[in-house]
Amino acid sequence: MGKKVLGLDVGASAVKGGVVDLKKGEMISERFKIKTPNRPASIEEVLEAFAKVVKHFDWKGEIGIGFPAIVQNNVILTASNVDKKWIGKNIQDTFGKKVGLKVYAVNDADAAGMAERAFGGGKGKKGTVILLTLGSGIGSALFRDGILIPNTEFGHLKFKGEIAEKYCSSRVKDLEELSFKEWGKRLNNYLLHLELLFSPDLFLLGGGISRDFPKYKKHLSVKAKVKPAQMRNVAGIVGAAMAVLQK
Ligand code: BGC
Repeated sequence: MGKKVLGLDVGASAVKGGVVDLKKGEMISERFKIKTPNRPASIEEVLEAFAKVVKHFDWKGEIGIGFPAIVQNNVILTASNVDKKWIGKNIQDTFGKKVGLKVYAVNDADAAGMAERAFGGGKGKKGTVILLTLGSGIGSALFRDGILIPNTEFGHLKFKGEIAEKYCSSRVKDLEELSFKEWGKRLNNYLLHLELLFSPDLFLLGGGISRDFPKYKKHLSVKAKVKPAQMRNVAGIVGAAMAVLQK
């Protein structure tokens, strides 16, 4: 058994956590989730939900967080789907102080990407790999021969007069009531654009909608391989725990 870390995935509507064995890349507890009903949730609401998850596991060790924003050296630098007041906040001064434990954080899509690269669909893959999380926003993780280039934020690339996540996130599919065909075509336009910019060898698609991959894969015409992410809803938590490896 490897080192155990509590991994926490901070999302737009909930904080989810689980105990992770870093060597196996597996969640060895059940997944526990506290919802944050307001959108965006206030800093206090997120910290309260976070503290409840930590308490649920009676956790006293290190904690890794996947946070939905640019996170550099444990400081949050942007806030598109979260309260703007997060900008400039240090993870240790906020999350760490709340529970009196050592806390490390990375961008949530980088977290999912690190987990998929180490233990899932990107395992051992050389070349350029792009993982996208298609959810409330679009998160991205870029790897070259297994090395992560963090905080790429491809969901914020200007595309079709907007930023890409306002064009083809899975939230947009719901809001605009797009069929899988309509949404799949939008996703394909976006993937073609990314392909033009980065010539990836592989796209890995994560987020809840990766479960429906068979329903839209026929609309994807990029040259690169496209695969649904393998670790499903565990990737965010396993990858969050891996944030402690970056200290
Ligand atoms: C944020 C990213 C995040 C993504 C997925 C985007 O709006 O800017 O940092 O990775 O949503 O949560």
